[in-house]
Amino acid sequence: MQRPLTANIRPNAPPPDCAAYERAGGYQAMRRALLQMTPADVVGEVTKSGLRGRGGAGFGTGQKWSFVPKRKPGRRSYLIANADEMEPGTFKDRLLLEGDPHQMIEAVIVSAYAVGATDGYIFVRGEYKLAIARLTQAIGEAHAAGYLGEDILGSGYSLNLHIHASAGRYICGEETALLTALEGRRAQPRNKPPFPQVSGLWGAPSVVNNVETLCNIPHIIANGADWFKSLGRGADGGTKLYGISGRVKRPGTWELPIGTPMREILEEHAGGMQDGYQLRALLPGGASTAFLGADQLDTAMDYGSVEKAGSRLGTGSAIVLDDRSCPVGMICNLEHFFAQESCGWCTPCRDGLPWVERMLRALEDGDGEDEDLHQLQRHVGLLGPGRTFCAHAPGAMAPLESGLRHFRDEFERHVRERHCSWR
Ligand SMILES: Cc1cc2nc3c(=O)[nH]c(=O)nc-3n(C[C@H](O)[C@H](O)[C@H](O)COP(=O)(O)O)c2cc1C
Ligand code: SF4
Repeated sequence: MQRPLTANIRPNAPPPDCAAYERAGGYQAMRRALLQMTPADVVGEVTKSGLRGRGGAGFGTGQKWSFVPKRKPGRRSYLIANADEMEPGTFKDRLLLEGDPHQMIEAVIVSAYAVGATDGYIFVRGEYKLAIARLTQAIGEAHAAGYLGEDILGSGYSLNLHIHASAGRYICGEETALLTALEGRRAQPRNKPPFPQVSGLWGAPSVVNNVETLCNIPHIIANGADWFKSLGRGADGGTKLYGISGRVKRPGTWELPIGTPMREILEEHAGGMQDGYQLRALLPGGASTAFLGADQLDTAMDYGSVEKAGSRLGTGSAIVLDDRSCPVGMICNLEHFFAQESCGWCTPCRDGLPWVERMLRALEDGDGEDEDLHQLQRHVGLLGPGRTFCAHAPGAMAPLESGLRHFRDEFERHVRERHCSWR
C-alpha cells in the first residue's frame, strides 16, 4: 500500500533533515514545477488529480486555485498553510508537521508557485511547539540550500516563507478569521464574497489550504494526476490520514487509501474496541460532524459515501462513543467547547450555544424538563446553516441534531428519571 504523505515518518525518530529528505526524492517535485512547468500547468495537474481539501469542507483544490486573478507585477499575494488544527479529536496535521517538515515546505513552495504567491505563511497552532521548532529549523536549511528566497534554482521565482504561531482560538482555523488574525486583529470571520483568492490578507489575493491538502501537492507533481487518482478506493483520489480516538485498543492516525471503510479503520488499524466496551456510535470526521450508528460501519470514508450516510468526512478523524458512556454527557462536553470558542460576532452563536450547553448540563444534573428537548431541537434550527456568519455554529449543531435523533430515548430517560444513569 502506498503511503506518500507519511513515507518518511518514523515513530519516535527525528524528522529527515534537508539532505535525508532529498535522498528520499524530496525537492524533485519543486525542481520539476519551477524549471519545467508553468504555474498554469501545476494548477491543471492538481485540478486533474481531483484533490479535494482535507481541512473539512472538501472543496476542489485546483478549482480553488483557479479563482486567483492573474498576477499584477509588483502586487503581493499569499499562500497560507492552515495548521491551526484545534478541532477536538483531530491531530493529523501535527503528524505531518512534526514528522516531515521539509515535505510541508516543498508543498508550500510548489503551491505558492502555482498561484503566483510572493509570500507564504504557515499559520500554526501555538501549542504545537515541537512542530514550530522543527519547521523553523527546516526553513533555515531550505534557505541555505537555495530553495527559499530570491530566484529559487535560477527559475526567476522568489518566495518568502514565514511561520506564524497562532494565539490559540478554534475560530483562527476558519479561513477568513485566520486572515484577520494574521493581520494582527481580533480573529473574526469575514463576509464571503469577496473570497480570499480575490481579496484576502491585507486585501491581496490569498489562498488558504489545509496542511494535509498541501502535502499532497509535491506527490501529484512528481507522479502525475492519474497515479494520484489510482490511490483511492472509490470516486475520490489519493490517500487520507484517518484517525480514531475513544475507547479503542490503539487510538492513532493512519494513512490509508481514501474510501477505506470505517469498519476496516476501526477493527484492523485501531485494533477494535477495548475489552468490555461496545461501539455505540461515532463522529466520523471530528467534533463538528453528525453521528453515524454502529450499523453504518461499512460506510466508505470518502466524501460522497459519508454524506450519503448522513454525515461528513470532515477531517477524517473519528471520535468513538462506547456503550458505557453517556451520549448526552458527550454532546454536553462538545457544546461546552463550541460555546467557549464562539467568537461572539453573531447573536445566535454567541447566546445560543451557551443556552444549549446549559440545557444539556441541566439534563445531566437531573434538572431537565420535557420542554428542554423541544428547545434543543429548536436551537438546532436557529443555529443551523445560513443563520450565522460562519460555519462554527452549524458545525456545533451537527452532533446535537444527530444525537437527538440517534439517542432520543436517552434524552427522554434523563428527564424521566431525573438523573444521568451513566454516572
Ligand atoms: C470554526 C472553524 C474552524 C476551522 N478550523 C480549521 C483548521 O484548524 N484547519 C483547517 O485546515 N481548516 C479549518 N477550517 C476550515 C477552513 O475554513 C478552510 O475551509 C480550510 O482551511 C480550507 O483548506 P482546504 O481547502 O485545503 O481544506 C475551519 C472551519 C471552521 C468553520
Ligand atoms: S457563527 Fe459563531 S464563530 Fe462564526 S462568526 Fe458567528 S459568532 Fe463568530
